Amino acid sequence: MRPVIAELPGSKIREVANAAMGRPDVLAFWFGESDEVTPDFVREAAARSIAAGDTFYSHNLGLPELREAIAAYVSDLHPAVNPGRIAVTSSGVSALMLAMQALAGAGDGVVAVVPVWPNLTAQPAILGATVRRVPLKVHADGAWRLDLDALLAAVTERTRVLLVNAPNNPTGWTLTRPEQQAILDHCRGTGTWVIADEVYERVYFRPGAAAAPSFLDLATPDDRVVVVHSFSKSFLMTGWRLGWLVAPERLVADAFGKLIEFNTSCAPVFVQRAGLAALAGAAGFVPGLIGRLQAGRDTLLPRLAALPGVEVATPDGGMYAFFRVQGEDDSLAFAKRLVTEAGLGLAPGAAFGPEAEGWLRWCFASRDPQRLVLGLDRLARALRL
Ligand SMILES: Cc1ncc(COP(=O)(O)O)c(C=O)c1O
Repeated sequence: MRPVIAELPGSKIREVANAAMGRPDVLAFWFGESDEVTPDFVREAAARSIAAGDTFYSHNLGLPELREAIAAYVSDLHPAVNPGRIAVTSSGVSALMLAMQALAGAGDGVVAVVPVWPNLTAQPAILGATVRRVPLKVHADGAWRLDLDALLAAVTERTRVLLVNAPNNPTGWTLTRPEQQAILDHCRGTGTWVIADEVYERVYFRPGAAAAPSFLDLATPDDRVVVVHSFSKSFLMTGWRLGWLVAPERLVADAFGKLIEFNTSCAPVFVQRAGLAALAGAAGFVPGLIGRLQAGRDTLLPRLAALPGVEVATPDGGMYAFFRVQGEDDSLAFAKRLVTEAGLGLAPGAAFGPEAEGWLRWCFASRDPQRLVLGLDRLARALRL
């Protein structure tokens, strides 16, 4: 085995979950998904597709009608994008890996804004690239913000790729428009590609905004920018493994077709048909889902913030409360103790990098906000409050 693979850390979230094996009483908020099932109209489209015999390979880049529907959906939220810039992928995580495979290899420099979902930094490491971490900074209000000067100083002519995930998992940090512009201008100067993980773009709570600020709002079609999306979060389709990339047409045509062939060959056709149904129903479905996620956020955050010794900021985006408790510095040990003693399942901050040690992530994507209140009671009891 290559040493880099042997050295990959195991999932610390799984480690906590394993401590709860065989405990149906545990309230689990550790994974990044809602407890709601995929909407009926999406599941029915997949069932129809299977019944119709859609069991064969499809085009590497996805069904032409799905690429068109994605382009139309993206163009509704952002400046117009043509279908030639879209590649359908078997999940957001696969899209991220494909983008990294296309752009960075052994010895290349990659800069990542952290803490972040660990897959983003593991992927370049697997490919042999060198990852430099630029931490977000915690402010007195408990919110994480970008140190723009530190980021721009870290991205040089030797940086092949800048990885940015905003809205951010786990912190909820979201890029501002001026920060995006400064990053884009800087990367144009250094010749650096931006891989923007925008899978939470619709999970954004600023009133009147249908999506978080996106690099697609600023970049030209030929800028060195690849934007990664997923059906997982906005359409409750985590188990379906469907996502897409928006990239310069040349990269889609010359790189992604080939890379998809060698990775997965194509996304399953019935899953793509489910994706088509999801996009067709997006206007009627997504705002309601975001409303339910906001209800979860607004149930959890004020109550969590009111607990003595808890530091937390209300996130504008994403589906996580990211908090720390005074005196609890070992997040893995604390998360394990919460599971075993209180039946409360949270993700340890250490899973997202050393910058997040001492923090915990709580996914508030719960259809029934009372479940969150129950979890809060368990936390308060564990803290002897
Ligand atoms: C920041 C981020 N990017 C990408 C993904 C990938 O989502 P999927 O592979 O389910 O499309 C996730 C999932 O949790 C995520 O949190």
